[in-house]
Amino acid sequence: MSSNSINRKFKFEKPIPVDEFIENALYEPNKGYYNIKIPFGKKGDFVTAPTISNLFSEIIAVWVISTWEKLGKPKKFNFVELGPGDGSLAKVLVETFKKFPNFNKAINIFLYEKSNFLIKIQKQKLKNYRVKWTKNFNQIKTGPIIFFGNEFFDAIPVKQFLYKDKSFMEKFYSISPNSKVKESYKKSDKRDTEKIKSFKTLKGLKFFEFPKMGLAEMDNIIKKIKNLSGGILLIDYGYIKSIKGSTLQAVKSNKKMDMKDLFKNIGKADITSLVNFTLLKEYYLKNNLKVKNIVSQKFFLEKMGIIERAKILEKKMTTKQKEYMYITLMRLLRRELMGELFKVIFAFKSEKNDFLGFK
Ligand SMILES: C[S@@+](CC[C@H](N)C(=O)[O-])C[C@H]1O[C@@H](n2cnc3c(N)ncnc32)[C@H](O)[C@@H]1O
Repeated sequence: MSSNSINRKFKFEKPIPVDEFIENALYEPNKGYYNIKIPFGKKGDFVTAPTISNLFSEIIAVWVISTWEKLGKPKKFNFVELGPGDGSLAKVLVETFKKFPNFNKAINIFLYEKSNFLIKIQKQKLKNYRVKWTKNFNQIKTGPIIFFGNEFFDAIPVKQFLYKDKSFMEKFYSISPNSKVKESYKKSDKRDTEKIKSFKTLKGLKFFEFPKMGLAEMDNIIKKIKNLSGGILLIDYGYIKSIKGSTLQAVKSNKKMDMKDLFKNIGKADITSLVNFTLLKEYYLKNNLKVKNIVSQKFFLEKMGIIERAKILEKKMTTKQKEYMYITLMRLLRRELMGELFKVIFAFKSEKNDFLGFK
């Protein structure tokens, strides 16, 4: 792998683990992808469900309200959006919540965002909206809590390992001064090896990804849920049965790029990996949360009534608006588009179990 056009602002002369390499490419201040441009939308590099259709965000709003009802309509209720992107979902949530006065009195909305650049964009979009930004969940002290993330976990870099000669070997990248990208492997750190061995999901795999950074984020979230009760709803591009090989992908201008080209575009393309939902479920169960059966985005949205909602909205629409609404709805629901590729998981601490949207 080599390229003369590698962005020289990024220096990785010493080999660094894959997750740290990606972390720098995405978040290094003033250089990282998420700190220099708005990546979402038709003019950006990729579209996400909330930037495709407001119907998606409305359904999430209805799910949050229904969960509050299931939990006995507590007087104080917290909602944290993880990785709110350009703030599209939060905007629709606030507007929808206003239509439910009792719920609206109870709800506190927090946004948890890593990119300072995106926080600025969110603050512009949500001026005069009742939302707060948080970097530390300790500021939330009472009331059940619901965390929600759409394409949050897949944006957190993963480590990659090879199991060879009875040892776990971790993959590293480096970029030489003449812009050559080199891949190398080193024996895995002892603590990582112990952690990996504790997962049934990873047993017997020759090559696999491990979301160490993502699970560290999860630790804080799980602690909060255990403390206050509530849960975490995640929607992500991912898989249930294990996948052979790397799932890293780079996306630029709404097109997937060959990973080789990624190295010519460090800081200019988004890099994600597919979420291992079975591993995530195993982690929640290990931490004594309950978990609903993982379902597809199509199943969840349809069960929550997205088609019925579209039928109500279409009555007040022009033919052109109607056409547009159904095209975007099909993007969310068609199996070969987002419908099956995206999965939904809900882990929770509560005596209740009959949350909407699942099997
Ligand atoms: C792929 S975008 C999805 C944005 C939005 N949820 C949507 O669906 O349009 C990922 C988002 O997660 C944020 N993010 C990634 N890692 C994060 C972390 N560790 N803590 C907080 N935010 C993070 C990114 O900056 C970005 O806002």
